[in-house]
Amino acid sequence: QDLRDISDIQMESLSRPSLFDFYGVCMTKYFTDNWDNIQNFKAGPDDIVLASYPKAGNTWVSYILDLLYFGQTSPERQGSVPLHERVPFLEIQIPGFPSGVDALNELSTFPRIIKTHLPVQFLPKSFWEQNSKIIYVARNAKDTAVSYFHFDRMNKAQPEPGNWESFLQRFMEGKMVFGSWYEHVRGWWEKKQSSSNILYLFYEDLIEDIEQELGRICSFLGLSPTTELKKQVTEKVLFDSMKTNKMVNGSTDEVFDFKISPFMRKGRVGDWKNHFTVQQDEQFNEDYEKKMKNTDLLFRTVL
Ligand code: PPS
Repeated sequence: QDLRDISDIQMESLSRPSLFDFYGVCMTKYFTDNWDNIQNFKAGPDDIVLASYPKAGNTWVSYILDLLYFGQTSPERQGSVPLHERVPFLEIQIPGFPSGVDALNELSTFPRIIKTHLPVQFLPKSFWEQNSKIIYVARNAKDTAVSYFHFDRMNKAQPEPGNWESFLQRFMEGKMVFGSWYEHVRGWWEKKQSSSNILYLFYEDLIEDIEQELGRICSFLGLSPTTELKKQVTEKVLFDSMKTNKMVNGSTDEVFDFKISPFMRKGRVGDWKNHFTVQQDEQFNEDYEKKMKNTDLLFRTVL
């Protein structure tokens, strides 16, 4: 009861942050207040970084990795430790909660699986020096924008989203937390061309063929799971299984208001069609062509 009271007080003092320009990327204080400790983070050669622009499927892949590494060795943690504690979020620093850096330094499991939304130029240099393995997950811009809109409505630690029309305009302008989707996915894609330590995954591929993508993840990480473990993982990471699993569905995260929207919301490719008007779609496509020209990075918005 006492703990509940304390967290209620913390939540009341938590305010929606404003966006500001941070070395050319829009950010909020909750991801920049701990900047020196983030930049000086000491990576280990066995660390696995799971990077993505917000709403691309980071939670999905983090659960896959957690099950692959710990599903059989420590099954008890599956039912007692929320996923966001098992896979700490490097840059997060919300008053009243442990920072991502502290959580990572206190993690007792090995290897560490590390969530980040940082654009490639902000990743602490230690990860490059240590040659850590990095998995990047990308999702098409339209579904990402829709998912991000609903997330900003229900997450009290994010800026007010405003209405859908104004949110979409801001998305196109890159005025979102963690900056421009276009620059984020391109920045990591370009880095991947010169680094064999980056596996670049697409949300749409995971939806289409989870077994195939699981195989790619395992061969990248040098894992050879048994048929039994592979089966367990694919079943546990289905959208409907995750949605009802309290340890992974966001229900332990106190900044979320599920009365507004669930964290595990739709989990589909093409939900953008229920949000974009014909006019918004035309304008978005025209702008997209300009921003994504000169790249061979291709996304699917329908399957
Ligand atoms: S966050 O908060 O930025 O880390 O969000 P992230 O986890 O990257 O993305 C959340 C979206 O991923 C969907 N999701 C899934 N889709 C399909 N299958 C599974 N298992 C799954 N797990 C998470 C989640 O529902 C969010 O997308 P939307 O479109 O909002 O449903």
